[in-house]
Amino acid sequence: SDPDMLQDFCIADLNAATSVNGFPCKPDSQVNSNDFFFSGLSKGGSTTNVFGSNVTSANVLSFPGLNTLGISMNRVDFAPGGINPPHSHPRATEIGIVVEGELLVGFISTSNVFYSKVLKAGEMFVVPKGLVHFQQNVGSGKAQTITAFNSQQPGAVVVPLALFDAQPTIPSTVLTKTFQVDERVVHDIKSRFGS
Ligand code: GLV
Ligand code: MN
Repeated sequence: SDPDMLQDFCIADLNAATSVNGFPCKPDSQVNSNDFFFSGLSKGGSTTNVFGSNVTSANVLSFPGLNTLGISMNRVDFAPGGINPPHSHPRATEIGIVVEGELLVGFISTSNVFYSKVLKAGEMFVVPKGLVHFQQNVGSGKAQTITAFNSQQPGAVVVPLALFDAQPTIPSTVLTKTFQVDERVVHDIKSRFGS
């Protein structure tokens, strides 16, 4: 859902002094084949973390050739039981395919209806723009999904981190009243995410 481009391509100059809605283009004389290819999704990152998952992004920041093209992809790796926690992408609809393992994939509509399914390798899902969604590895081994977005930089609001790991920290009074729990519960959750 990014704006349409006005030229064939515009390889992002990530270090340009000026900032626009996206990035300025490298001069054509500096563009070569390497600008249109990217190997960064050939390996997954470590899943040894609290969530047991890792997102590797092929967006305009890692793959500057995507600038102005309105698309990007992720690779998400999961340890057994691992979760890509509830999050939303403010700038994109997401489509994904499970390439390994078995994932519980779900999203929640703005009417708070929960839509979900357990998917195996080769099966696909879609997440409408902006809706909160997650994937959890419910198989016995590793799992992996490849996702794609109609934005060069979809952005991600990761709900648990936004609420419990923001800097500066959100006042506990906000979180105790929001979740109707004791301050100890809020402190306990905050401590899990390192702040
Ligand atoms: C999965 O939800 C992803 O954002 O790649
Ligand atoms: Mn997502």
